[in-house]
Amino acid sequence: MSDVLLEVLNDGVLLLTLNRPDKKNALNVVLWEALYQAMINAKNNDDVRVVVLTGAGGNFCSGMDLTEFNLEGDHPFNRCATAIAEFDKPMMGAASGIAVGGGATMLFHTDILYVGQSFRMRLPFVNLGLVPEFASSYVLQAAIGSRKAAQLFYTAEWVDAKRAEQLDIANEVFDDDQLLSKAMETAKEIAQWPLNALRETKKTLKLPHQAGIRAAFEVEAVAMKKQAGSPENIEAITAFMEKRRSDFSNILPESY
Ligand code: COA
Repeated sequence: MSDVLLEVLNDGVLLLTLNRPDKKNALNVVLWEALYQAMINAKNNDDVRVVVLTGAGGNFCSGMDLTEFNLEGDHPFNRCATAIAEFDKPMMGAASGIAVGGGATMLFHTDILYVGQSFRMRLPFVNLGLVPEFASSYVLQAAIGSRKAAQLFYTAEWVDAKRAEQLDIANEVFDDDQLLSKAMETAKEIAQWPLNALRETKKTLKLPHQAGIRAAFEVEAVAMKKQAGSPENIEAITAFMEKRRSDFSNILPESY
């Protein structure tokens, strides 16, 4: 067990807490790897019937750690995203505060999502010179419809708790201080039922989406390879680190 990911298993419910609160739980390589290992262990452990994902310090997650943004080589993002997308038991999210980039798209793979009043979600891909990841280009369209998904991807606008519920991204909104106990209550209700029935039910729910999710992972990986490290991406990440607005005005499409 790693200190960037807290794991508590009780009564069939595994609570996984992203734990880098100083960085709003940004996903660095160590955290991606810890999360991957936890998902594989959860899949193989019959004592786990439900997984609940949450974040420490009042935020869910600020997405990929931009100070080490480089998906080249054997990056654990790829295996972790697949492990979450193909997890074969019920998975819930309990998210308050920030849920950005990979910290939002991860939540699209939860079966049930509860959010706190402070929840604020954003898909900052185009503004970083990037493209959607985590099969979100498929999963979000399937959940909320293609037009609404397109608006969120193209504008990179913020979505608050109420709108997330209206859009069907979240099941329900709770006061922040009630959020986790409400999620655990529902998770325990689910965990009372037989494991095989839960697994087979998840299979029936996910099967219609399997081909779309796999195709999305493939097309996103190709597009991400083109965009990651491009001049516009480098400008966006440099601007983030220098705490200034990005300036794309001098970057021509044909310059890479
Ligand atoms: N990667 C690395 N560090 C991050 C981070 C990320 N994705 N998101 C936040 N942090 C760090 C900040 O640099 C800051 O560190 P510092 O205290 O050492 O300066 C700390 O976390 C707190 O963030 P801050 O920006 O001060 O908080 P905020 O409440 O004003 O804004 C966000 C929060 C999430 C809106 C803002 O940090 C942000 O836009 N982050 C980038 C999100 C993003 O684009 N993610 C990648 C998607 S692919």
